Amino acid sequence: MSDPIRFPEGFLWGAATSAYQIEGSPLADGAGPSIWERFVHSPGLTASGETGDLACDHYRRYASDVRLMADLGLNAYRFSIAWGRVLPAGRGKVNPAGLGFYERLVDRLLEHGIQPAVTLYHWDLPAALDDRGGWLNPDIAEWFADYAQVMFRALGDRVPLWTTLNEPWVITDGGYLHGALAPGHRSLYEAPIASHNLLRAHGAAVRAYRAEGKHRIGLVVNLEPKYPASQSAGDQAALRRADAYMNRQYLDPVFHGRYPDEMREIFGSAWPDHPAADFDLIQEPFDFLGINYYTRSVIRHDDRALPVRASAVRQPQHPYTETDWEVYPEGLVAVLTWVKHHYGDMPLYITENGAAYYDAPRPVDGRVDDPLRVHYFHEHLRAAHAAIREGVDLRGYFAWSLLDNFEWSLGYSKRFGLVHVDYETLRRTPKSSARFYAEVIRSGGAALGETPSRRTVIGSAR
Ligand code: BGC
Repeated sequence: MSDPIRFPEGFLWGAATSAYQIEGSPLADGAGPSIWERFVHSPGLTASGETGDLACDHYRRYASDVRLMADLGLNAYRFSIAWGRVLPAGRGKVNPAGLGFYERLVDRLLEHGIQPAVTLYHWDLPAALDDRGGWLNPDIAEWFADYAQVMFRALGDRVPLWTTLNEPWVITDGGYLHGALAPGHRSLYEAPIASHNLLRAHGAAVRAYRAEGKHRIGLVVNLEPKYPASQSAGDQAALRRADAYMNRQYLDPVFHGRYPDEMREIFGSAWPDHPAADFDLIQEPFDFLGINYYTRSVIRHDDRALPVRASAVRQPQHPYTETDWEVYPEGLVAVLTWVKHHYGDMPLYITENGAAYYDAPRPVDGRVDDPLRVHYFHEHLRAAHAAIREGVDLRGYFAWSLLDNFEWSLGYSKRFGLVHVDYETLRRTPKSSARFYAEVIRSGGAALGETPSRRTVIGSAR
């Protein structure tokens, strides 16, 4: 006998965004420039030279955006703070006008019964700190903890859920190894240093939070389960390296106090020796893990794909999104159960999950129908529920993203929103996927259909 799907009482139903991707007005009211401000204004680095100068103009439209969230029935909203709005030089003097924006946003959310979930760092490092080496300078752990402390003191009583970093892997791989993201460096030697300082900064911010006597802070990582393309020894070894590089590089140190052995295999002489004492800081216990899940990859050995020597094999039997990511909901069950078994049972949140698909630039007859995105959310929300049935302590789900927005170096070419943004008028139109998600929330999950019978529950990848 099957029952309708039901999520646990108190489950957080949210949507996520990040500051630079939606706010616009990045230099307003005394804000200091970020590395993204510099990156987008360097010719040729983003698609069609697009910038976040206006983005969704959320900086000025936040109040109506919060009303939109309330209309959808969201009870949580994950957003990030632009560090440079609050501390224009990255450290030192606080800019009350910048801080004031986030205070008003938080108050507005609370008025509507929406829990704010704050990300302290979603990639927009103050440029003044980049001038001092940014994530390559070991002092950044202290700079970050000082900034975090300002935020905890200003908003700690109103914000129930904090996360330190969004996706350290992307920050390092995109920003310091392959250069597709700000600050656009390409260095095998810098990437491991940036990673290590990110983890030290995370630990230092958790300590600063504890010093305020608080206990709901976590880290957000993007996880992508890796599957072997074949049983050959070469593909199996490539699988281990790919998994270590993307999935274990950040979780092993924070939970086990060491990097995976494969890191040295991947980086060779560029892999530094880290002082043992750093791991005390890195291992500072925190309260939950946020997981961003989009896709999986099937891995084969590939000598040209440096430094990991592994590449993904396309899976023609499955659909792909517009960012060319395979749609693979079973992978969500796999990562959630893997975290539980590998790192221990702890509260987990899906802090991002969603898909880019083509939507017309303008609504047609006032509507935006996005059946592919509806299907994506349907399948992934069912997978989230399947993981709960497997015993995972999943506390919430945040769709990426609330609004169509600035997709980093891809500019506005990829739409991830539940809510369509007409970039000429900035008018917001909830898509069919937003209405579908609202119905799932209203029904506590029942709109997703029945639970699959025990036998068909999808299993773990590993
Ligand atoms: C990031 C978002 C991004 C999304 C889609 C995640 O890696 O946190 O900022 O827009 O993926 O690419």
